[in-house]
Amino acid sequence: MRAHLIAGNWKMNKTPSETEVFLARFLPLVSQAEPEIVLLPAFPSLHRAGCLLCKTNVRLGAQDLHPEPRGAFTGAVSAEMLIDCGCRYVLVGHSERRHVFGESNALVRCKLEAAVSGGLHPILCVGETLAERRAGETESVLQTQLGSDLADLSARSFPHLVVAYEPVWAIGTGETATTRQAQDAAAWIREWLRRELGASAGETIRILYGGSVKPDNAAELLALPDVDGVLVGGASLDPVGLAQIVAEARA
Ligand code: PGA
Repeated sequence: MRAHLIAGNWKMNKTPSETEVFLARFLPLVSQAEPEIVLLPAFPSLHRAGCLLCKTNVRLGAQDLHPEPRGAFTGAVSAEMLIDCGCRYVLVGHSERRHVFGESNALVRCKLEAAVSGGLHPILCVGETLAERRAGETESVLQTQLGSDLADLSARSFPHLVVAYEPVWAIGTGETATTRQAQDAAAWIREWLRRELGASAGETIRILYGGSVKPDNAAELLALPDVDGVLVGGASLDPVGLAQIVAEARA
């Protein structure tokens, strides 16, 4: 049985001071919680969050990284910098990076490799747009993204890889995928992982669902056989709401 992972993607929200206020409220609510919890603040809040989380059971992650270890890349951050702030996880290929910032599958693949070789656990996000779903292209989009981002990945990457299925039309829209849609996509991804990366990768890699997850729909999503956790955006900004989602998860 794969342990659930609850990840809070704060996007471009919360200053370092607001992060501190959030943690003062959130940490007592989850101090006994057993599922793995990861908070993903914006870069300027990472250091402060890392200091406040280092003696807790809540892990830290970043929302992005640059593929190169150092150099003239104004505005970018490396895996090593994130590790030094206390990060263990990093999002790679979030749909806002793909669609708003124009990241290609090739770049996502380079970032994934940089994360793994830098010692971070990547949470690779994949998912189709509404037009692609309506055109019946969900599986071919997932196939292209997974194929380009993960194919031929070295076996040493598997134990720490997490895949998040995030249909673009469900992100920040209030429109959650139905449990059937979430389970079908997660099962399809698991089958792809089994086929392409081997039976053990298919069994052990955790698959999250993301897209308008809230306290009132988390339980049904977390009960799905191939969904091993949730990637929560808007609802993770509220400490009480996020703690309610954590309470629905299993260790
Ligand atoms: P949402 O965002 O929960 O606000 O839809 C999810 C995400 O973008 O990871």
